[in-house]
Amino acid sequence: MSNDSIAKTLLVAIGLSLVCSVIVSVSAVGLKPRQEANAEAARRAEILRSAGLLEADTDVDAVFRDRVEARVLDLDSGQIVADMDPDALDGAATSTMLLPEEDIAGIVRRPRYVSVYLVRDGDDVDKVVLPVHGYGLWSTMYGFLALGADGNTVEGLSFYQHGETPGLGGEIENPRWLAGWQGKKVYGDGEDVRLGVIKGQVDPESPQSEWQVDGLSGATLTSNGVTNMIHYWLGDGAFGPFLARLRNGESLS
Ligand SMILES: Cc1cc2nc3c(=O)[nH]c(=O)nc-3n(C[C@H](O)[C@H](O)[C@H](O)COP(=O)(O)O)c2cc1C
Repeated sequence: MSNDSIAKTLLVAIGLSLVCSVIVSVSAVGLKPRQEANAEAARRAEILRSAGLLEADTDVDAVFRDRVEARVLDLDSGQIVADMDPDALDGAATSTMLLPEEDIAGIVRRPRYVSVYLVRDGDDVDKVVLPVHGYGLWSTMYGFLALGADGNTVEGLSFYQHGETPGLGGEIENPRWLAGWQGKKVYGDGEDVRLGVIKGQVDPESPQSEWQVDGLSGATLTSNGVTNMIHYWLGDGAFGPFLARLRNGESLS
């Protein structure tokens, strides 16, 4: 067959495509377990970060194994479900569509069961890490919020995925801004979530400062998204009933 013939050109092109597609498919399938393991390691590191347990030299697997216990929480009842495996959770299977007036965080659906992470100090649970997500200006922001065992004091917040603009809304990743969440309170005397990001800087003398976090300058819309996310997830429709149990002194140990 001549090198210039159409048949040979097609044959070479088809043959090359077939070989390349086999190489790409085999690599994708072969690397999948490693990609999943890396994603899981990154998620664990983020859980530790939110709980203030991640330093540069932290052995993530060891600390996670020693201090953290994943459990399944039924958001409808606010109860931890004893016989469900967090690793086998398929949130999409049991999620419900939110009504527009309920969906202040712009998440469209809410799963019934979510994995939460109990952080132990010896025999006692001293923190609980909750997965949270909500819409900012451009994207859905995914993070973890760590609360004390009192169900009211913020131990830390971290974000591991978002598409906000670097330097503006992207400052939600800035450790200096995230540090401003530590020690803040979620609730006052009632059930209403009071915690949120304000516009401008918090006045430490203000009686409201316990529930306020500095706004991100030039990124009020992302800041509002963070407040909406906190209000949704810590409110009645999500973790509220579970946190009410903790505030009433129920122990997780
Ligand atoms: C290219 C571009 C990217 C922006 N990205 C963000 C963002 O990620 N988050 C945000 O809140 N505002 C962002 N803004 C600014 C918003 O449009 C809006 O002006 C701002 O949120 C108002 O905040 P301020 O009242 O603190 O200035 C962006 C603006 C431009 C032009």
